[in-house]
Amino acid sequence: MPTTKRIGIDHVKIAAEILRQGGTVAFPTETVYGLGADALNPEAIDKIFVAKGRPSDNPLIVHIAALEQLDAIAHAVTPLAKNLIERYWPGPLTVVLKKSPDIPASVTAGLDTVAVRMPEDPIAIELIRLTDRPIVAPSANRSGRPSATSWQAVVEDLDGLIDGVLCGPPTRIGLESTVVDTTGKWPIILRHGAITQEMIQACIGNVSTATSDAQRRSPGTRHRHYQPRARVVLFKDFLTLDPVLPDPAEIPVGIIGCRDDSDRAEIQNRLQKRYPHAEIKICRSMDEYANSLFEFFRHCDSLKLQTIFCQQVDSSGLGRAIMDRLTRASQ
Ligand code: TXA
Ligand code: MG
Repeated sequence: MPTTKRIGIDHVKIAAEILRQGGTVAFPTETVYGLGADALNPEAIDKIFVAKGRPSDNPLIVHIAALEQLDAIAHAVTPLAKNLIERYWPGPLTVVLKKSPDIPASVTAGLDTVAVRMPEDPIAIELIRLTDRPIVAPSANRSGRPSATSWQAVVEDLDGLIDGVLCGPPTRIGLESTVVDTTGKWPIILRHGAITQEMIQACIGNVSTATSDAQRRSPGTRHRHYQPRARVVLFKDFLTLDPVLPDPAEIPVGIIGCRDDSDRAEIQNRLQKRYPHAEIKICRSMDEYANSLFEFFRHCDSLKLQTIFCQQVDSSGLGRAIMDRLTRASQ
């Protein structure tokens, strides 16, 4: 088994050299850690599918550091796509465009479209710049598991399976980028993220979210996703948690939710008293909920908890992305 090199953020050059030689390196972005490989090297791309155990029909996102790189990757960038790119790049937005023939078929799972993103994380940008080519980067987790929001989570899933990991800070957002398909008649949000539906609408007008037809155009969304080993059960409110949890639990469970009110501490105390063996996390904001979710899943798994209770939130703004991950994790 190869060893996975831990690379400090002062040595991004070493990571870039591994990528230039056709290796795989995980690196931080503002959303989640990505597992990088040279987007123009089919052998390097294959290594990513093997390391992740990823189905080959799930296409990858190509990451760039400068707009000039886009010409070699995509063509027919519509005015609508241009608007989105101008407004939200660099940032947590992935745009699906018509593919250029130079991009290997394994990147796009044989589709005639390609997903592209320009991250804003300075370490990610430096890595892509120094590598001097586009970088494919799926989330750096074993396929089906919660995405990695820290380098330690990457190591947990992929140690010995990848060539290196850039040991940067935990990610700022904690959920994967918003994916918007701009290649059809109308724009469609294929995956919700921190660039919200409202923000996209403010930029380009009406946009729909994935229907089953659109999901066929994003094969990856069909697969098992975001799941901890523990069973995930959703509940509506901390006040209505009791009927979900059958017993004042002997069995240790995880409980996560969000409450910005002044009664937060009181609720935390009440729950802890009633469920003394539970791991409890009550976030102060939706941002914190989004940023804590995958980390909490992994924490509960490390404690071998059997069930994680997650509070549902309003499906608007960032809440849509949270609900999307919660729903899939609970399936
Ligand atoms: O935030 C992110 O996007 C992270 C970081 C590392 O950039 N990456 C990420 O990659 O989440 P991954 O592979 O875990 O998710 C890529 C998503 C999948 O749902 C995939 O189906 C979709 O993007 N996708 C990729 N190419 C596509 C295409 N040509 N058409 C439609 N959907 C596509
Ligand atoms: Mg993923």
